[in-house]
Amino acid sequence: MKKFYTCASVLSADMRNLEKVSKELETSGVDILHFDVMDGVFVPNLSFGFPILEAVNNSTDLFLDVHLMITDPLRYIPQTIKAGADLVTFHIESSSDPYETIAAVKKGGAKVGIVIKPGTSYEEVLPFMELVDVVLVMTVEPGFGGQSFMEDMLPKVRALRKYIDEKDLPVHIQVDGGINDKTAALAVSAGADMLVVGSYLFKKSSIADGLTTLKNAVSE
Ligand code: DX5
Ligand code: ZN
Repeated sequence: MKKFYTCASVLSADMRNLEKVSKELETSGVDILHFDVMDGVFVPNLSFGFPILEAVNNSTDLFLDVHLMITDPLRYIPQTIKAGADLVTFHIESSSDPYETIAAVKKGGAKVGIVIKPGTSYEEVLPFMELVDVVLVMTVEPGFGGQSFMEDMLPKVRALRKYIDEKDLPVHIQVDGGINDKTAALAVSAGADMLVVGSYLFKKSSIADGLTTLKNAVSE
């Protein structure tokens, strides 16, 4: 079985008790906690910001992956890292300069990732592949959990996998949106090694069961 990391997106979690959710994620064997920040401008939705990120950080030892769906990520990098981000991903379509944003995240001591929306071609991120730790290929339009996986994003994952392997770069390929026990296998066989999973996991009666089903489906 190809090795991949599971990143649970807390956007779909029960917000009444985030501490309980964080603990359940820890014990269920999730690798990473994925935290979606939306500003209502870059995407047509609002989610949560720094006070909640800080609270989540204080309630778990899990690695925190913060996905910034905001217009000007560069402006908020220091606060994002201060609030607990271990990995910060930002969109190439945002208005911030990608080189400056990457440098700001690295200066803050976190890992950095660059994200492409479904309409953006993979070639756009190639100039940054030697500078980032992660490239995130959105497999839905960013903004909402619970949407259907866009299979036509798989060629982008394959092309990035080929590029990264040929150059032997230490870059992970993350996919985000519509991951379930069917689409996880498609994403991993195309070359993704970090899967963001939201509604699929939190709709299950137990996160641990959901994870087991997902991992079994990928290994089949
Ligand atoms: C969407 C977010 C995702 C979302 C994924 O804009 O970036 O992280 O929570 O949710 P599912 O897995 O339900 O598609
Ligand atoms: Zn996300």
